Amino acid sequence: MAKSSTRYYCQQCGAQSSQWIGKCPSCGAWNSYIEEVIEKEKTTSHKKVPGTKKAQPQRISEIVFNNDQRIVLADQEFNRVVGNGLVPGGVTLIGGEPGIGKSTLLLQVAMNSHNKKFLYISGEESARQIKLRAKRIGKNNPDVYVLTETALNSIIDHIRDINPDIIIVDSIQTLYSENIESSAGSISQIRECASELQQYAKHLNIPVLLIGHITKEGQLAGPKVLEHMVDTVLHFEGDRHYGYRILRTLKNRYGSTSELGIYEMNNDGLREVANPSEILLSHRDENLSGIAIAATIEGLRPMLIETQALVSTAAYGTPQRTTTGFDTRRLNMLLAVLEKRNGFRLGVKDVFLNIAGGLTVDDPAIDMAVVASVLSSNEDKPIDKFTCFAAEVGLSGEIRSINRVDQRIKEADKLGFKRIFISKYNYQAIEPKHYDIEIIPLASINQFYDRLF
Ligand code: TYD
Ligand code: MG
Repeated sequence: MAKSSTRYYCQQCGAQSSQWIGKCPSCGAWNSYIEEVIEKEKTTSHKKVPGTKKAQPQRISEIVFNNDQRIVLADQEFNRVVGNGLVPGGVTLIGGEPGIGKSTLLLQVAMNSHNKKFLYISGEESARQIKLRAKRIGKNNPDVYVLTETALNSIIDHIRDINPDIIIVDSIQTLYSENIESSAGSISQIRECASELQQYAKHLNIPVLLIGHITKEGQLAGPKVLEHMVDTVLHFEGDRHYGYRILRTLKNRYGSTSELGIYEMNNDGLREVANPSEILLSHRDENLSGIAIAATIEGLRPMLIETQALVSTAAYGTPQRTTTGFDTRRLNMLLAVLEKRNGFRLGVKDVFLNIAGGLTVDDPAIDMAVVASVLSSNEDKPIDKFTCFAAEVGLSGEIRSINRVDQRIKEADKLGFKRIFISKYNYQAIEPKHYDIEIIPLASINQFYDRLF
C-alpha cells in the first residue's frame, strides 16, 4: 500500500507547509491553510500520463510552427483576446465569478464553430442542462460532444476515443485524479488534474479551455499555482446588473496581454460587441450637468466612456466619496488637486462618481473627464455633449500626456465629437489639421475651467 501523509495548503495562494499555520507567510491570508491527504509514492511530478511518449531533444530550427496552425474559432472577440486563435496543445484558463457567463461563453464558442469537433466536459451540470443552454443560444454545431464526468482517468479515455479538436473543461475544480487522495476542488487535486490534462494536451496537440472559479476576493479559487502552469489566463468580468461582459487577458504566452473582448449578455447568449463606444455612451437629448466623456483605450481599442459625478453638500459631518468603476484614492487625489490648485471647496462636499456601463477603468487618461464631471456637477453647468477628454492630471495640477493620443482623437472624430481636450505635450506631437475635430491643448488645470464652460 502506498504510504499516505498530509500536507497543509494555503487555499489562497497554494503555498504548502508541513504544519497548520494561522497566517500564510507567502500571501498574508489568515486561516487559509487546509489539510490535504496525499499519497507519497504517487505525487512525484515526473509521473507519466498514460499514452504519452518520452520526449526527444530537437533542433529549434527543425521545429515547425506558423500562425496558420492556430485554431481560429467563430468568435472574433474571443480570437482576438487569445491572440488570433488557439495554439494547439495550449492550455487556457478562464476565470470569473459564478453566474457571469463562463459556461455560456465557451458553449457558445463551441456551438458557433462549425467544422470543429469539441468535447465539452462538465462536472457541474447535467447533459440536459447543457442542452437547454445550447437551445437558448440557438446555434448548432453537430460536432459538440458533451461528457458529464469528473474522474480524470476516464476523461482521458474519452478524449482518446473521440479525438476532439478542442477540449472544454467546466470546471477544473470539479475534476479529480485517482492518483491523489484528497477531495475534488482541493489545491493538490486542482494542480494534479491541470498538470495531467496539460501533459496530455501537449502530447496530442489539442488546445484545452479550463473554466476556473473565483473566490470572493476575486482571485482564481485556490490555485495561483494554476496561473503559473497554464499558457493563457483570461478573466471574464462585468457587473451582473448590466449586460456587458469583458474578457481580459491576464497572461498570454502566445499573444498580447492588453487585448479585450466585449460582449453583451442577451436572452439568446452573448452578443459580440464590435464597436464598444456606441453602447457605452448614453444617447441623451438634453445636456445634463455632471457628465463628461473620456476617450480611453482598453487593450488596443479606443473606447469612449461616460463618467458621471454628483457633488453635493455633505449631509453628515464627514463627506462621502463613493466611486463605481474608478479608484476612490485616485478620486480623492484629483479632488485634493482641485482644492489646492483651483480653490474649489470640495473638502466639505459629498462626491459620487460613476463610470457608466459597469466598467472598471484604470487608464490614466480618464482623469480629465473625471475632473470635468466633478466641476460640472459642482457648478451645475452642463458640458457640451460633443466634447470629450483624454489626459492625465498630475499632483501639481499639470495636464500630462498619455499614450496613443492619435487613436483616441480618431475615435472621437469618427463618433461625431466636435472638441477634444488633451495635454499640450501630446498636442506638440500631432498634426491637428489631419482631424476634423477641434483639439484643445492644455498645460494645467488652472486653464481648464475657463476653457470648459
Ligand atoms: P453561466 O454561463 O451559467 O455562468 P457561469 O458559468 O459563469 O457560472 O451564465 C449564467 C447567467 O447567464 C445566468 O444568470 C443566465 C444568464 N444567461 C442569459 O442571460 N442569457 C443566455 O442566453 C444564457 C445561456 C444565460
Ligand atoms: Mg458555469
